[in-house]
Amino acid sequence: MTQKLADMGKQLQCAPMVVVLVVCALVASLCVFSTQQQRYSYLITSEGGSLQGIDRPDVLPATANMSRSEHEVANPHPFVFTLNHPVRCVSSDVFLLIIVPTPPEGQAQRQAVRQTWGDETSVPGVVIRTVFAVGDSGDVKVQQALEDENKLFGDIIQENFADTPRNATLKTVMGLKWASRFCPNAKYVLKASPDIFVNILNLVNYLEELPASATKLLVGWVNTDEKPAREPLQQRYVPKDEYPRDMYPPYARGFAYVMSGDMPKLLYETSLTTKYFYLEDVYVGTCLKKLGIAPKHHGKFCDGFYSCTLDCYTC
Ligand SMILES: *[C@@H]1O[C@H](CO)[C@@H](O)[C@H](O)[C@H]1NC(C)=O
Ligand SMILES: *[C@@H]1O[C@H](CO)[C@@H](O)[C@H](O)[C@H]1NC(C)=O
Repeated sequence: MTQKLADMGKQLQCAPMVVVLVVCALVASLCVFSTQQQRYSYLITSEGGSLQGIDRPDVLPATANMSRSEHEVANPHPFVFTLNHPVRCVSSDVFLLIIVPTPPEGQAQRQAVRQTWGDETSVPGVVIRTVFAVGDSGDVKVQQALEDENKLFGDIIQENFADTPRNATLKTVMGLKWASRFCPNAKYVLKASPDIFVNILNLVNYLEELPASATKLLVGWVNTDEKPAREPLQQRYVPKDEYPRDMYPPYARGFAYVMSGDMPKLLYETSLTTKYFYLEDVYVGTCLKKLGIAPKHHGKFCDGFYSCTLDCYTC
């Protein structure tokens, strides 16, 4: 069925469209794909100094004796924030926190997101906060550029782990940690890749229609009954020694998923005893399974491959 949808979707690729507030409000039913062309105004926030909120490494709580099954292992997150904005998100009326993982040198990507769907002012009356999660490049010049950019926009959070594709899950865990510590009142949290488009108005409308009491919720494009790709040439190839099980848990594809505000803390704490696996979306699925929470599938979360209906939330 997924395949069928994907095939169908290939004929329905999202068309480019202008992303202007007013226009958006009127044509919110159109799917939008634009990361570069729009240049409407954005807020320059500058409250955070680059070294605020440096914290202590996290250590596993006293569970040294717990049984060590595949999923119950110590997986401490011993990293500290080297760029932080501890007060950027503390207000109680944050409706949506958007966390966008980007590489340290991804300035163009970040700028495109700031100017389009990551614009915190794009939905009048709705408090949105956008932060970009990065790891460490190990390159002094890249770091300096990142700090300069952060001084200007005040929206970059960084931990001191090496920023590599295999560390993508560390970046997700870092985002969960940040959300639970520094944005605990956010009603919803969206994790979205910088290379997709989020139709923020459609998404906010959808979230506003959820019951006010929505908790333990994670929604996205959910893959179920997926087996790890075992052929070396396959995309997302995973050898057996890295993921011994024959089946992935149900998981929301990593390009975009949104969760209720209680989830970051639950997921972060669960990650500390869940064996590391570098496919971050599968990893989050594993944590969800441990928590006994099933991710919810919604066909309007899609990307270039899983294209969907015209009034998508992401594409
Ligand atoms: C930990 O395990 C040891 C040996 O099995 C046992 O003697 C001890 O009481 C356990 N400690 C806790 C806190 O469960
Ligand atoms: C992930 O980050 C850690 C901490 O910086 C580093 O030691 C490790 O080499 C990185 N792992 C990979 C696979 O890149």
